[in-house]
Amino acid sequence: MITAYFKQTRLVAILVAVLMGISGYGKAQQKEFKPGQLWPDDKGVHINAHGGGFLYQKGTYYWFGEHKIAGGAGNRAMVGVHCYSSKDLYNWKDEGIALNVSDDLANDIAKGCILERPKVIYNKLTKKYVMWFHLELLGKGYSAARAGVATSDKATGPYTFVKSYRPNPGQMPFYAVTTPESEKVNCTNPASKSDGFFCRDLPGGQMARDMTVFVDDDGKAYHVFSSEENFTLDLAELTPDYTGHTGKFIRIYVGHQTEAPALFKRNGIYYMIGSGCTGWDPNAARWFSATSIWGPWTYRGNPCKGPGSETTYGGQSTYVLPVAGKKDAFIFVADKWTPKDAIDGRYLWLPIAFKGDDIEINWLDSWKLDVFKK
Ligand code: GAL
Repeated sequence: MITAYFKQTRLVAILVAVLMGISGYGKAQQKEFKPGQLWPDDKGVHINAHGGGFLYQKGTYYWFGEHKIAGGAGNRAMVGVHCYSSKDLYNWKDEGIALNVSDDLANDIAKGCILERPKVIYNKLTKKYVMWFHLELLGKGYSAARAGVATSDKATGPYTFVKSYRPNPGQMPFYAVTTPESEKVNCTNPASKSDGFFCRDLPGGQMARDMTVFVDDDGKAYHVFSSEENFTLDLAELTPDYTGHTGKFIRIYVGHQTEAPALFKRNGIYYMIGSGCTGWDPNAARWFSATSIWGPWTYRGNPCKGPGSETTYGGQSTYVLPVAGKKDAFIFVADKWTPKDAIDGRYLWLPIAFKGDDIEINWLDSWKLDVFKK
């Protein structure tokens, strides 16, 4: 009798545990953002998606980023691009590896290469998800400076690697009709170090390192990348299928070493936030604005305010995430790198405040989406 009773209670306990497991009930739900702290996914593991980018589709956000491993080796791509999904931006479900590095050492994305800052956009014409990233070939340090592209039929992947290359070989920048000749790059007599790098790389294509991609309201997509030995940012138009460059591009803030670009648009104005160039160490963020994607892009200073603003609170920009369904709701997303133990890198998410067309970012220990009005 007693044994039967115990057997029954044990059965009930097992059933309850299984049901809790299936429903996710009992797992700590995240209810706020805590910049710089560990951020557990649905399995309780710190999210592993560094240098990330986001895609929003039909009520779901997807987060793509560099999967890092422990130690210094984690700065190289030993696994690939990790994907997570979320309905509320606080709680993220592990969707696994969206793009795997290759075991074939001759492959462009061979295991141990450097594959950074992946960003995914959806192409309505081809119905493909297109992932762009910064690629450095295995064993070549940061010398390859290529853009890589992969595609998938599903947001979460698996993505198939397509190609990697230096963009826009043989192409001169696009200039507004009003641009004076003196401001145009002259490869017979380069006027600056940066112009010199541009001219050197003209035949083979421009260097492409830190990057983002941005889709405008008209469906045109742009690739923004640190070029010319990181001295200049290029903003380049992608082909209608988003898997190549059209050859039309501009150079932004020539010679000033901008990295980590993140683009967004509000009320018809284009905004870009980036960083300076100090490797894994943090520096002051910088922002730019423009009324046309083709510029001119105006340098507007440091958007960060208060203590820690000179080092972006220890982080470096990677994306600006628009919150779906809310007006003027944009989240500044940055990485706090930990190169000695790459997997431990943290995420800094902070709300962007608008003062007219100016932007401001302030540190918060924790915050919720209700900081945004509607
Ligand atoms: C940073 C860059 C990172 C990574 C790092 C390597 O400046 O933003 O994406 O490339 O340098 O040192």
